[in-house]
Amino acid sequence: MAATGFAYSHLFAKDLPAAAPRWTGFPKYNFIGGHNDREHVPAAALAAAAEAVLRREGADLALYNPHGPQGFRATRDFVVDKVKGRGIHCSPDEVLITSGSGQGLDLVNRVLLDRGDTVILEEFTYGGAISKLRRLGVNVVGAPLDDDGLVIDALSQIVDDLKRKGTAPKYIYTIPTVQNPTGSILPMDRRHALLGLAKRHGVPIFEDECYADLTWSEGAPPAIYSLDPSQVIHVGSFSKTLAPALRLGYVVADWNVMSRLVGLKRETDSGTGALEQMVVAEYFSHHFEEHVGELTGVLREKLDTMVEALEREFGTTVEKMWRPKGGIFLWIKLPDRVDVTKLVAPAAKEGLVFNPGPEWSCNPAETKSHMRLCFALPSKEEIRSGVAALARICHQETGLPEQSANIRRASPG
Ligand SMILES: Cc1ncc(COP(=O)(O)O)c(C=O)c1O
Repeated sequence: MAATGFAYSHLFAKDLPAAAPRWTGFPKYNFIGGHNDREHVPAAALAAAAEAVLRREGADLALYNPHGPQGFRATRDFVVDKVKGRGIHCSPDEVLITSGSGQGLDLVNRVLLDRGDTVILEEFTYGGAISKLRRLGVNVVGAPLDDDGLVIDALSQIVDDLKRKGTAPKYIYTIPTVQNPTGSILPMDRRHALLGLAKRHGVPIFEDECYADLTWSEGAPPAIYSLDPSQVIHVGSFSKTLAPALRLGYVVADWNVMSRLVGLKRETDSGTGALEQMVVAEYFSHHFEEHVGELTGVLREKLDTMVEALEREFGTTVEKMWRPKGGIFLWIKLPDRVDVTKLVAPAAKEGLVFNPGPEWSCNPAETKSHMRLCFALPSKEEIRSGVAALARICHQETGLPEQSANIRRASPG
């Protein structure tokens, strides 16, 4: 018996991602990724939904893609209904159910992009979107954000500059409603301006509304897709509103695009798991508003807990805190002399993980003092003690926050 494992590693393809480390479990203080609140996964109601739908339609599992390659019909019907709340009026034929919205991103990239193409993203954006593009050999250009999202004049300048150099960007990727990581919501006038700009320059908009259902009470303007479906491709997810482990997302697009996406989806897999789709449709067609209302209430409380903890433990060392208008993340900036990438290893040693800014930025070198903290998964107590641990580690490594006093205040007695 061979003691050294698979004998042909030398035959592996050249362009593989870095080898993954073996998984060693979740850390004690988990502030990374897009995990959800454990207490608010409606496990009992999902079990009841699964039983009801399996008794009624379980025999359909005998088929590949029982309702065709775009996904289970009741799930697509639910998406059609749900996106009406975002101003979108589409038919089930314009909906593709995907294995997470991440697969939606991959499929759209395959429809639109060739190696060497250029796309415009928000300067701070979803790390997965950046890494997918870099792997495809696509040039990534970051457009500035302010507290209301994309700055349209600056974006316009970027498109003009690219044009002067003979480059036509293939799309503008935006997370306009609860931006990841800044949590901003693009106001209506900017949505119109963005659409006008995109139309003028002949650049499609790729709209990612992963977090749009998780806004605080103020709500959000309609999706950009709703304003002109001929200019926009829209993706969404059930990861954030329900559970990421279900791996369910969707794309809404005009049939010109949809027919290409469906062709690629068929080539990629043999359909997204039907059981998950059945259960989600069964549960959400009765409980969506109620579930999402409850979840956002809890997320908002956790955000407040995290903001309080950061103010207590870091004080003015947090130079800027982007107060999100919904969602699950807080994006902060520490002083320039704090390189958060140097905190990753010592924090991990103490069971604490966070997302370093450079991974969420089109300009990594300029984002070394930023970090993203997800507040959805940890309990309020874990948020408090985790942020205290983060401040202690940061102090040990960088001298900031200058705050042994703060630490004493945080742990009375
Ligand atoms: C903006 C954005 N889009 C897409 C995704 C992919 O999510 P999923 O594949 O779980 O739907 C994420 C995950 O965090 C995200 O933040």
